[in-house]
Amino acid sequence: MAFLTNEKLTIVGAAGMIGSNMVQTALMMGLTSEICLYDVFSPEGVAEEMRQCGFGDVKITATTDVKEALTNAKYIISSGGAPRKEGMTREDLLAGNCKIAEELGKNIKAYCPDVKHVVIIFNPADLTGLVTLLYSGLKPGQVTTLAALDTTRLQSALAKKFGVMQTEITGCATYGGHGEQMAVFGSHVKVAGRNLTDIIGTDEFTAEEWEQMKKDVTQGGAAIIKLRGRSSFQSPSYLSVEMIRSAMGGEAFRFPAGTYVNTGKYNNIMMAMDTTIDADGCHYNVPQGTDEENAKLDASYEHLCKMRDELVTLNIVPAISEWSKINPNL
Ligand SMILES: NC(=O)c1ccc[n+]([C@@H]2O[C@H](COP(=O)([O-])OP(=O)(O)OC[C@H]3O[C@@H](n4cnc5c(N)ncnc54)[C@H](O)[C@@H]3O)[C@@H](O)[C@H]2O)c1
Repeated sequence: MAFLTNEKLTIVGAAGMIGSNMVQTALMMGLTSEICLYDVFSPEGVAEEMRQCGFGDVKITATTDVKEALTNAKYIISSGGAPRKEGMTREDLLAGNCKIAEELGKNIKAYCPDVKHVVIIFNPADLTGLVTLLYSGLKPGQVTTLAALDTTRLQSALAKKFGVMQTEITGCATYGGHGEQMAVFGSHVKVAGRNLTDIIGTDEFTAEEWEQMKKDVTQGGAAIIKLRGRSSFQSPSYLSVEMIRSAMGGEAFRFPAGTYVNTGKYNNIMMAMDTTIDADGCHYNVPQGTDEENAKLDASYEHLCKMRDELVTLNIVPAISEWSKINPNL
């Protein structure tokens, strides 16, 4: 089999629902000939299942030893953290999962400072990603977070509403935090070639329906928990593996990613922007929407700043003025 790379990909949280699905997806995509499964609980069962798929010429290892897992890793995706349960928000996971992110960042610095790209999934991803970046010493473009699900939720809701294929819904994006305060941008959306803004407010799609759809999108994760009795895992695993594929130089990732931002207006924060990911890392532009959409993005940023400042209070990260001592790239 021709692989995209022969460099080591480590999946952190590999015994869990997202992690185990990521391993399978990466193997099915033929991303790499070397994949390492790491978890605090043994991921050996997942590794055995993968070997029994008969993927053949891939080196599949499984370990609970973080040093072994990260040594020589060139790509990492981590879903290693607690998921939320019904009734919880992503923010309820803040302190516990950010402590895990601190450890992960420090372990990256210790065992694989030459890693090329890290994708962070565990929630609240904007904050766990930020903490990982800080302690890893990596450059801002080397750490991204999974934020795309909000966009694919908007795209699929519009496709269902208008009875078209998801590819016919273009220009969909949600920006800012991957929490219920995200900013849903509809002004660039086209529905089978028609401007969504020309359809909103007509009998075909009333302003109330659009408002409801935006609300449903921001609560899309909670809706999956209700439907399945557990936090979503197939879509996050698929999309994160697509992100790392782009970082390996493969096909371009089609949706926004969470990235470290310093624009003068939005500073020292990780959030979804208009991004591209390639072998040089993540690049971003600040999205431009209507006044209302831009105001939503400002509000989402403010919300993220509050959570970041809470991490300072909790002593998980120092004051921003001290960050460059830990990571000179920030
Ligand atoms: N960003 C997104 O869009 C998105 C979407 C869905 C879920 N999530 C998040 O992804 C995370 C994982 O979800 P899941 O459904 O796979 O949960 P899960 O409980 O099935 O799996 C998590 C795995 O992480 C492992 N783990 C815990 N602490 C660890 C550590 N310190 N180091 C290594 N591994 C560790 C656990 O042993 C477990 O196997 C959750 O935080 C969830 O909220 C994010």
